[in-house]
Amino acid sequence: MNFLGGRKIVLGVTGGVAAYKAAELTRLLGKTGADVHVVLSEGGARFVSAVTFQALSGNIVWSDLWDARMPNNMAHIDLTRGADMILVAPATADFMARVVHGLADDLLTTLCLAREVPLLLAPAMNRQMWENPSTRRNAGQLAADGVVLLGPEAGEQACGEVGPGRMLEPDALLEDVIAFLQPKRLAGRRVVLTAGPTFEAIDPVRGITNSSSGKMGYALARACAHAGADVVLVSGPVTLQAPRGVRRIQVQSALEMRTAVFDEIGAADVFIGVAAVADYRPAAAAEHKIKKSGGEMHLALTPNPDILADVAALDDPPFCVGFAAESRNLDDYAESKRRAKKLPLLVGNLVQDGLGGEDNQVILFDDKGSHPLGRAPKMELAIQIVAHIAAMLKSDRISG
Ligand code: C5P
Repeated sequence: MNFLGGRKIVLGVTGGVAAYKAAELTRLLGKTGADVHVVLSEGGARFVSAVTFQALSGNIVWSDLWDARMPNNMAHIDLTRGADMILVAPATADFMARVVHGLADDLLTTLCLAREVPLLLAPAMNRQMWENPSTRRNAGQLAADGVVLLGPEAGEQACGEVGPGRMLEPDALLEDVIAFLQPKRLAGRRVVLTAGPTFEAIDPVRGITNSSSGKMGYALARACAHAGADVVLVSGPVTLQAPRGVRRIQVQSALEMRTAVFDEIGAADVFIGVAAVADYRPAAAAEHKIKKSGGEMHLALTPNPDILADVAALDDPPFCVGFAAESRNLDDYAESKRRAKKLPLLVGNLVQDGLGGEDNQVILFDDKGSHPLGRAPKMELAIQIVAHIAAMLKSDRISG
């Protein structure tokens, strides 16, 4: 998705070995739609050359405070005008210290001092440098000054030591940049979601499941995290990666899913049931693999609890959102399901429109009627659904 379309990002690269990852970050930011302008410090240029960044960003690379190429000779001011952020990755310990003190002795520090845009730093350094009291103090002061620190993470370091100070990987930084730029419609809200299919064991090797890919639920979990919510995703068996910043609890069966949901639901403001929960499970799973008998086989099934209906029936339920996948009569079935489960909002779609694919076409049903959303990638729909939920929560608060 073109998340960063129309965005201008000034990417500062300072002198740490993680500068090689900044090349990949430049490519990823550009692929996601951003116009990237790289400012390379003297130290950064010792690790990766300006040519690399120019080729990957398609823009001139800046290094010198005295560079006369800017028509008004004010590169230190003009580069950040119209930008959405300065992102410095990697940010060395020395660079952090210089920003804390407001130094302006090269182009990048001068840009940081003369900016009116957010400053995001991705620290990268040896673990002892990161843990040194000076750097601790500097990190605290930067945060107090409104600078956003992305990472670092702990792990193996270029020097061979293991500990905190590794720069986040480019894909994680990209995700943090995308999230930073999204409106925080669910700030302070706690959201619990279910996603994926369930797997109901028949015996140790067989089971009943369905073809839900989990993509819609994972896209919604990601959109909720982007919107600033604290997100717990209770997921059936799928092959997808947990979205960044989302706490995932992996389960197999509907009963496990219900237990995990009820463990988490106490503090939830919103519950979104996206999972395709099996309606029935084998009455008793066989302890050992069932042998072929040659004749007909009959499997006794027993109904699963309806997790969403049970959550909606709590004394003080969170704002509950359901999904309904139907193969026909969508309007009738979806609206009657919404009423039966007592849900303020239900997202309906025709199975032939969405199951397993990248795109979907959905209709939102609430007390005000039905709201069709145009066919779009699941992530785009997820963002629209989150906006609708946030608006309903807001009007709830105003009217309540
Ligand atoms: O009734 P139906 O299964 O079509 O309802 C779909 C909605 O209810 C979805 O939001 C689904 O996640 C939820 N559901 C549930 N537990 C079940 C069955 C469905 O939470 N056992």
